[in-house]
Amino acid sequence: MSRKIPVLTAEEAAALIENGQTIGFSGFTPAGACKEIPKALAARAQAQHDQGKPFKVGVITGASTGDSLDGHLARADAMLFRTPYQSNASLREAINTGKIPYFDMHLSLTAQYMKYGFFGKIHWAIVEACDISDDGEIVLSTSGGVSPTALQLADKVLIELNAFHSKQLRGIHDIYIPQSPPHRREIPIYSAGDRCGEVSVKIDPAKIAGIVLTNAPDEVAPFRETDPVSEKIGEQVAEFLASEIKAGRIPREFLPLQSGVGNIANAVLGCLGKHKDIPAFDMYSEVLQDSVVDLIEQGKIKTASATSMTMSKQAIERVYANIEHFKKLLVLRPIEISNNPEVVRRIGVVSVNTPIEMDIFGNVNSSQIMGTKIMNGIGGSGDFTRNAYISIFAGPSCAKGGKISSVVPFVAHVDHSEHSVQVMITEQGVADLRAKSPRQRAEAIIQNCAHPDYKEALSRYLHLHPEGGQTPHDLRKAFAMHEKFLADGDMRGAL
Ligand code: COA
Repeated sequence: MSRKIPVLTAEEAAALIENGQTIGFSGFTPAGACKEIPKALAARAQAQHDQGKPFKVGVITGASTGDSLDGHLARADAMLFRTPYQSNASLREAINTGKIPYFDMHLSLTAQYMKYGFFGKIHWAIVEACDISDDGEIVLSTSGGVSPTALQLADKVLIELNAFHSKQLRGIHDIYIPQSPPHRREIPIYSAGDRCGEVSVKIDPAKIAGIVLTNAPDEVAPFRETDPVSEKIGEQVAEFLASEIKAGRIPREFLPLQSGVGNIANAVLGCLGKHKDIPAFDMYSEVLQDSVVDLIEQGKIKTASATSMTMSKQAIERVYANIEHFKKLLVLRPIEISNNPEVVRRIGVVSVNTPIEMDIFGNVNSSQIMGTKIMNGIGGSGDFTRNAYISIFAGPSCAKGGKISSVVPFVAHVDHSEHSVQVMITEQGVADLRAKSPRQRAEAIIQNCAHPDYKEALSRYLHLHPEGGQTPHDLRKAFAMHEKFLADGDMRGAL
């Protein structure tokens, strides 16, 4: 049934939301995140608090968002809980001081948690769109995330209709929502660019409480210039993958690539693009960054599937200027599908993610600084790592000007266990952990990946107890490097 959907101000929209309700917001990174309603909601929360009244809402998104959402709501102390991922300084501080409960999750699971009722009732979906019809057809903007599921489940819906985004995005999304068990069937994706769903989300227009008109680009932070360490890491990754092709362990036509977010991921992609022995490839990833636009224009990326286009204003404008061409090569999916373990395993994705720290036996910490303070979260790194054809972690061998070794005896928090991590790469070199025992892995990681300042100490640790078990730890000294850093700000000299 068609009905004229009311246009509201952001304040009018925020006034509809009640204390204690749970909201499924669009947004995966700042891409496609709501910009005006969350700010108005934070102001409403602040006004309620000033009158001594409680006001907090549960916030579920695809992943991190922009400061308009996570920053404003965190600073207004307006979050009852937050899931599944964040990367905002104000929110991080509120989580780390125990003010906001945060469930940091494998991102492929969020939509099904919503459907299974694990988060309770979803009262609202608040979603950014580039187009909407009066009969309830919504074309999402630059991310899929959990928007299709939130729109399906929520009692009521608010739309931010963002005129900055091209309406021609219609056709870039492929929206497929699997049935819940026991009725779930296989997901019919057999190569990165396959499509099996709809280009838009259709809902009952009676659920749509209003539209708020906006006109602003996504709040994507500019990328840093590639530094020499990131460049070296990128080169090591490209060289390793080229050698795997040469050895016949990766097919000659190559395999789809997943690459994380941030500057190292950008450098890795740049180096793969430049490497003469890496053929043009597909991406089956979570996020498409600026470098993907360059590599598509150079013919180095054939097709790219993800859940978001996390691109600077300049890069997204390049996409919009040639949108019909890019629409043939780019597919935006719901996070449940972009990161789906079944598809990742089937099509043989090569995953490349960045660790915070790694240990000598192959465990990786992606989320907790010194084991206690959240940085961002596990994000999609586990969805890909656990199911990859080859899982790689690539990052610098040390942090804070050498005062922290990224290679430690025992990670202070485990996100990816030794059973899932196959290759570790730093600017120092490559440790191939496949078909190696814990002791063999430790030798490879210390020799090839650790910073020279820490090699001897790590080697001493490994040999403390020559007959000390399959994984020869000394539990009294396993965190000696962390303890030393916490005591005097430098890991050097521990062990
Ligand atoms: N111990 C303590 N702090 C460390 C550290 C360590 N071993 N290694 C890095 N840090 C600090 C850095 O010094 C920096 O701190 P600062 O902000 O105070 O300068 C911070 O952690 C982030 O480091 P940076 O080098 O800027 O990291 P990055 O932008 O390359 O991001 C991760 C690295 C791990 C934080 C990021 O990749 C992440 O959140 N990963 C998890 C999610 C994920 O993998 N998603 C991708 C799936 S598609």
